[in-house]
Amino acid sequence: MAESNRAWIFEQPPIRDDFDTALKFRDWPMPEAGKDQVLVKTLYLSLDPANRRWMAGPTYMPQIPTGLPMWGFVLGEIVKSNSDRFQAGDIVGGVGTWSDYAVMPAEGLDKIADLGGMPLHAAMGLFRGPGGTAYVGVVDIGQLKAGQTFVVSGAAGSVGSLAGQIAKILGATVIGIAGSAEKCAWLTDDLGFDHAIDYTREDVEQRLRELCPKGVDVYFENVGGAIGNAVAANMAKFGRIAVCGLTAQYNEERASVGLDVMPLLLNGCTMQCFILYDYLDRIGEATAKIAGWYAQGRIKYHADITEGLENALSAFKRLFQPGAPHKGKMMVRVDRAAN
Ligand SMILES: NC(=O)c1ccc[n+]([C@@H]2O[C@H](COP(=O)([O-])OP(=O)(O)OC[C@H]3O[C@@H](n4cnc5c(N)ncnc54)[C@H](OP(=O)(O)O)[C@@H]3O)[C@@H](O)[C@H]2O)c1
Repeated sequence: MAESNRAWIFEQPPIRDDFDTALKFRDWPMPEAGKDQVLVKTLYLSLDPANRRWMAGPTYMPQIPTGLPMWGFVLGEIVKSNSDRFQAGDIVGGVGTWSDYAVMPAEGLDKIADLGGMPLHAAMGLFRGPGGTAYVGVVDIGQLKAGQTFVVSGAAGSVGSLAGQIAKILGATVIGIAGSAEKCAWLTDDLGFDHAIDYTREDVEQRLRELCPKGVDVYFENVGGAIGNAVAANMAKFGRIAVCGLTAQYNEERASVGLDVMPLLLNGCTMQCFILYDYLDRIGEATAKIAGWYAQGRIKYHADITEGLENALSAFKRLFQPGAPHKGKMMVRVDRAAN
């Protein structure tokens, strides 16, 4: 085992997007695993917009404590186990830290099963979090039916790119909203979306009016703000909005949809927010379906991998830069040997 450890330390909650003050990269003592804990060598670190809200206050997790390594979803290899559930060499996933090594409670860790030839990072980028969220949002919350019109914002991102592909498989006409011409071309040319709107150059409300004159049946909301209002103005009678995330507002003190409710009232629309943690019993079905679609070549998965823990912060910042050149699931390969 390597002798040294490095970590991004959470110094203080950021004001807006001042992440340089919030996070500092340091040498950090090698942690010792206690009872029912394991020492994990980080292989991959997931970068998620939600990490920004974890810094700001309690969510479905407690607020991240200051003066300690930043939290994040990780895939890692157990180096030392003080738990009956795991042994050294096991590959696990769970909430870890932005560090080379971390001690994690055995409870709450998942052993990563054989991925049948897929790269290890698919366990974090295709299945569980992103895949489960996309599936639950489309199927359970959106209740999408074949023949309907489906719109997703943050469409070239991790959850959005999967949600749009799932909607297409289920027989919908799919429109993605993303932040550059290159991202839009990826959605239509590679992922099979019917249309894509570049919100940095096009009038989203007007384009939706042209593309779906009968209105939007299901909207998968990932970003909120002006984009949410542009879609709300185009909802069909009895349309459904699945609110998954509000990335455009995560750097605000209070993230709110800021939604113009009037068009929803007039059309009798339903808006339902959801957090995947409340639907963990649906992950098994989501994983099986997505694995099947992937094997049939009907779903594509793209991992946007940044090399090296030291580069985690610059990559994280790009999640909050509209149009930044990344697609699919953002992650950091912490151990350069990880597949
Ligand atoms: N409810 C749940 O259980 C659950 C689970 C997982 C994720 N989520 C949420 O789902 C959303 C998507 O997550 P993800 O991991 O897939 O992230 P992501 O979409 O891969 O990355 C964030 C994207 O948001 C867009 N964006 C950033 N700032 C924006 C702004 N000001 N206006 C419009 N778009 C902006 C950027 O894409 P463009 O360049 O295309 O604008 C960026 O690439 C997040 O809000 C996340 O918190 C919710």
